[in-house]
Amino acid sequence: MSIAGKVALVTGGGRGLGREHALALAAAGAKVVVNDLGGSNTGEGGDAGPAQSVVAEIEELGGIAIADTRSVADWAGAHAMVDGAIAAFGDIDILVNNAGISRISVFGEMSEQDWDLSAAVNFKGVTATMNAAAAHWRKTGPKKGRAIINTASPAGLHPMPPINIYSATKAAVAALTISAALELAPLGVRANAIAPMARTRMLEGAPPEMIEMMAPREGFDPNSPEHVSQVVLFLASPNCPFTGRVFGTWGDDLYLFNEWSAAHHASNGGQKWTVDALEKASAELPRQDHRWTLFPGGRFEADMPSADVLNALANL
Ligand SMILES: NC(=O)c1ccc[n+]([C@@H]2O[C@H](COP(=O)([O-])OP(=O)(O)OC[C@H]3O[C@@H](n4cnc5c(N)ncnc54)[C@H](O)[C@@H]3O)[C@@H](O)[C@H]2O)c1
Repeated sequence: MSIAGKVALVTGGGRGLGREHALALAAAGAKVVVNDLGGSNTGEGGDAGPAQSVVAEIEELGGIAIADTRSVADWAGAHAMVDGAIAAFGDIDILVNNAGISRISVFGEMSEQDWDLSAAVNFKGVTATMNAAAAHWRKTGPKKGRAIINTASPAGLHPMPPINIYSATKAAVAALTISAALELAPLGVRANAIAPMARTRMLEGAPPEMIEMMAPREGFDPNSPEHVSQVVLFLASPNCPFTGRVFGTWGDDLYLFNEWSAAHHASNGGQKWTVDALEKASAELPRQDHRWTLFPGGRFEADMPSADVLNALANL
């Protein structure tokens, strides 16, 4: 079994990572629905151009694709784009939820619009396309080789200011992916998420040191988005054994995240907790979690919360 002949929907497939995913899937022989609203990085506006131009690129290379310019943030629209893929190509086998926006948001300064737009695209949109595909899969019954690839972010797994809401929506994507893996396995669906790092317009507004780190490099360029698409192809491939996992992907590096883990335990020995008892028992629990965090440039060991955060409280 291979990807050839399978039907794939790539949301946000008109630019950046999604464009690379659509091209890679088409080159592997999939029939691709290239969805893209064509909005701004912060979620405003729309333009049919990006989706249509990727379809034209695929067709020029001899592949099969159609464009869809609906917004994933619209529940009915997201269902219609999945139904459109099924109407055009007879099925949906591979769902790549890639569409996403990023808005600066820090507590005390965020607006309702920051929340509504971010949650609608990054979280509701992913839920809606998965719901639409699952409805079709439930109706048609079990079949091997179905795959969902959702796009989380290193920021979702290590939340960071000043993109608090973005981070939370991406954590939600990881949680949705794990739920889907548990729920949809009997229908032959594997669901995994990626936490990519690549040079796209999403870097607009990033700190200058990050932009510099992601700049093009001579020879092998780890920041080129094409590398992430190979991981998407692998996760879409019927031979891939993984489900319910989150993979960090940057250049030629692949990282596998651990889920939240109930790593430490305290007990009050069958007695009702009191604040005093909790203070005593929790003295044995670490204040910091030592972990691997993923940032452009690779993974780094870090304590969460950092010493700076604990010191800020201690030094008041
Ligand atoms: N570039 C990175 O380093 C990076 C890091 C972590 C996560 N991501 C995630 O990767 C995904 C792709 O981002 P990118 O970096 O390629 O950015 P990008 O802005 O180049 O591409 C995102 C695409 O999604 C489309 N889109 C936005 N809202 C949409 C909607 N409502 N409906 C349909 N399409 C919509 C946009 O028009 C755009 O073409 C996003 O989910 C992003 O959060 C990217």
